[in-house]
Amino acid sequence: MRLPSDVRRVLLVGFMGSGKSTVGPLLATRLGWRFVDFDVTIEAEEGVSVAEIFRTKGEPWFRNAESRIARELLTRDRVVLGSGGGWGSSSERLRGLPEGTVSVWLRVSAEEAVRRTAAADTRPLLSGADPLEEARRLILERAQGYRVAHIGVDTDGRTPEDVVEEVLAKIGVEMQRANGGEVIEA
Ligand code: S3P
Repeated sequence: MRLPSDVRRVLLVGFMGSGKSTVGPLLATRLGWRFVDFDVTIEAEEGVSVAEIFRTKGEPWFRNAESRIARELLTRDRVVLGSGGGWGSSSERLRGLPEGTVSVWLRVSAEEAVRRTAAADTRPLLSGADPLEEARRLILERAQGYRVAHIGVDTDGRTPEDVVEEVLAKIGVEMQRANGGEVIEA
């Protein structure tokens, strides 16, 4: 997909534990923009955690609320958006993003995702008997969607700061390309 030349928002997609809510605020600071997280917005509206919503209202209800919140947040400018790991796995959604949106896939291995999310009991989809097996299955299935993002960055074994640098560099290079300019890659 070609990048919009007039970038007004960056959308982070990727599996649970890929670092969307860690990298997002750092990236927003570098751009002088705001960071807004889909899950945090839903939790603020509902007054309960995502895990609690899954328990009491069920996943379909959550997915509906998530779609509605996403549509609203994707109208904002000068924002870095941290999507939920499920929302961003739809290729159709990533192909239909509003103008001015750059999508960034933060890649993570199943092992690292499980390590990063293990401490917090906040991921209903990884709280079964075998989280690693579940993460492997979901990542494999969802990568078909995530890969549609404009930019992909590996996060395993890297610091959030390092990931931010690569995101910024790739956005710069892709924008030059989209504008038909000369690309000088380091
Ligand atoms: C989900 C990811 C979570 C949260 C919910 C479902 C998923 O967000 O939206 O638990 O389906 O992958 P993070 O990716 O921010 O953990």
